[in-house]
Amino acid sequence: MAQSNRAEIVIQATPEAVAQEGARRFARLAQESIASRGAFSVALSGGSTPRLLYKKLASLPVQGAIDWGKVHLFWGDERFVPLDDPESNFHSTQTGLLSQVPVPKSNVYPVPTSGVTPAQAAELYSQYLANFFSKPLPRFDLILLGLGPDGHTASLFPGQMDDPNPGNAAVAVVENAPKPPPLRLSLSLASINQAAHILFLVTGSDKAAIVRRVLQPDDGEALLPAQRVQPSDGAVVWLLDQAAAQDLDR
Ligand code: 6PG
Repeated sequence: MAQSNRAEIVIQATPEAVAQEGARRFARLAQESIASRGAFSVALSGGSTPRLLYKKLASLPVQGAIDWGKVHLFWGDERFVPLDDPESNFHSTQTGLLSQVPVPKSNVYPVPTSGVTPAQAAELYSQYLANFFSKPLPRFDLILLGLGPDGHTASLFPGQMDDPNPGNAAVAVVENAPKPPPLRLSLSLASINQAAHILFLVTGSDKAAIVRRVLQPDDGEALLPAQRVQPSDGAVVWLLDQAAAQDLDR
């Protein structure tokens, strides 16, 4: 088992096995949260990696093990495009998960991206979160995150993090994101670090170098956004396939 200074690293043989393990953990956390608090709040990740996980969540037996009526779905970040745009994280989750599971529409909180400015969207989403969590910053039961080749996560990119997060805002507007589309909204680091559980899903040999840089950094290297995910009272798990983990010292 590879070690990192603050997180559990779980390595699976293939992307399929990563998705299966991710779905198992999602279902277990859902059962625990619903049993103890009657609800399970999740911030879903964008990008391509979690699509296999969403497919597993939508398939039996996992789907049947989750009381979807008590699951509340938010997004960790969103591209500022219409929700029916193929680039929209909501859109890709809609087809891969939301249309396949009995989660009530009233439990699904897409980031508003039409008829508002990005700043208004950030303010609106912050209000959704404050209303749901009854506190200024959300404490999600689970946040799913990906990792970009530059060390970004959600839509928090190197060199941009401090600007889009004035005064600990819950949601940041991100302009000129190096990963297109350039205009995005993202949970701020302050919000992400309130989570009870954070699950990074990273697969593929193209991520091996950044996985090593993030999880086993050399001394003195600047912190990347993914490395600043350090919840004050929460658990971080990195779910990797062998290909993404190949450069780690085991
Ligand atoms: C997005 C994601 C982004 C993603 C990483 C990894 O909106 O693009 O939030 O942070 O998770 O870029 O993307 P892949 O899973 O496609 O490699």
